[in-house]
Amino acid sequence: MTSTVHEVDLSIYDAQRERAAAIVARYPEPRSALLPLLHLVQYVEGHVSRTGVAFCAEVLDLTPAEVSAVATFYTMYKREPVGEHLVSVCTNTLCAALGGDDIYAAVRERLGGIGHEETSGTAPESGSLTIEHAECLAACDLAPVLTVNYEFFDRQTVDSALEIIEALQRGEKPAPTRGAPLTDFRRIELLLAGFFDEPETGGAAANAGPSADEATLRGARLAEERGWTAPPMPDAGPDDATESAILPGGPS
Ligand code: FES
Repeated sequence: MTSTVHEVDLSIYDAQRERAAAIVARYPEPRSALLPLLHLVQYVEGHVSRTGVAFCAEVLDLTPAEVSAVATFYTMYKREPVGEHLVSVCTNTLCAALGGDDIYAAVRERLGGIGHEETSGTAPESGSLTIEHAECLAACDLAPVLTVNYEFFDRQTVDSALEIIEALQRGEKPAPTRGAPLTDFRRIELLLAGFFDEPETGGAAANAGPSADEATLRGARLAEERGWTAPPMPDAGPDDATESAILPGGPS
């Protein structure tokens, strides 16, 4: 089916109507489906285009302005087409102090001096890379880190980061330190839209991988060995007590 909203041709989304309906059906209110629907848009077009905004508006009975207000708030929704891969270099405080700024500068230079959210090569062709500064990626214990399509490469140096970049440019898919094997930005967007077990994403098994590093788990292991537990919440009943967790206040 071809339809239009505000004179925008939505036919590029005809093949996505079933997926869009499945996303909407997950929520009690259609507008709650906007975030995953925007990921579906990025799967189709590699960014949130005017057409994608109109598609979301039509499906969710919102105005294009309402959709744009959300899409422009979150950094994960891109205004320009993303390359085959999105390379996010953490330049927040801890990573920056441990070399993240140097890594970002070296990656940028290797890609011809492109800037934040710019792309080397022609998106989404093989080897095209979009780079971005990232705020804390929640892996400070493994700093400095970068991600490729949100999969982690921990404890990076300038040299190791450049090896990753060069491999990606050759069309290779280096193995992340943690997470699933690399695919590409668009297929990850389909996953983020909530479609895990589809041929395009390689199926659920292809998207499994370790999510935690030993350094991250060490505190939890210590707590378990020493029998530390978290105190119950002030108004919690006996059934709400946490049986095993990291205890902020030290050993009991
Ligand atoms: S500062 Fe880089 S992961 Fe937290």
